[in-house]
Amino acid sequence: MDERLVYVDGDLGEFNKKTNLCVYNMLIRTPESAEIIIPSELEHSKEAIKLMSNHAISIINKYKLNNPKFMDNFKFYLTYDQKTLNSGEQHRGPNPHTDDIQGPRYNNDKSRVGFEYILSDNTPTIFYKNPTELSFSNENKEDLWNLIEDNADEMATYKAEINKVGFMNFYQIHRGDYVQTKTDRTFIKLCVTEKLFDADSDTVNPHLSNNVINGISYPWKITSRKSPGFVKFVKKNRM
Ligand SMILES: [Fe+2]
Repeated sequence: MDERLVYVDGDLGEFNKKTNLCVYNMLIRTPESAEIIIPSELEHSKEAIKLMSNHAISIINKYKLNNPKFMDNFKFYLTYDQKTLNSGEQHRGPNPHTDDIQGPRYNNDKSRVGFEYILSDNTPTIFYKNPTELSFSNENKEDLWNLIEDNADEMATYKAEINKVGFMNFYQIHRGDYVQTKTDRTFIKLCVTEKLFDADSDTVNPHLSNNVINGISYPWKITSRKSPGFVKFVKKNRM
């Protein structure tokens, strides 16, 4: 049992029904609409997504009581990643990283406010207990994931719970784990942020195409990343 993640209880529906679908950072809710818009292929995951999004909205509304402008431009992005993994394979980010703290538009401010929810049906995400000091680094010149990789302490980790929605922030250092035998794995992430997810690896939501969102027409123009964007290098063997 890990006490460092907050879990959101509720109906998960058939979130891991076998589909072999993968979408990455797909916009599903805009600031202009209260609707969650997911393609019909992801209908089986709507209960889990609703659980995450209702929790997110309750947090935003609570903060708005004191700060009516709080996250005015927030957006919801969905990652749904289902794969069959062979023994020794690893599903997602192979080395320690945080989500969403470095991007092409930042000028030494690391990240705007944001948070996310994760859910998996097996092989839970590994989290690191110890922080990495980033306040003296400049994300316009340095690769923050490299710094995190160098400082991660493999002797001080814990695992998220499976089949539970975990609530986390952009600064919690984590990595994926390796499977021991052939395994079907489903991973869902709902990211709540003011950022534009416009990397070439992000999935466009076809139901939102040709809309103007935050004054910018969607799909957004792809913006290249200075850093890997999603960590692909592995310095240490962690199997
Ligand atoms: Fe991650």
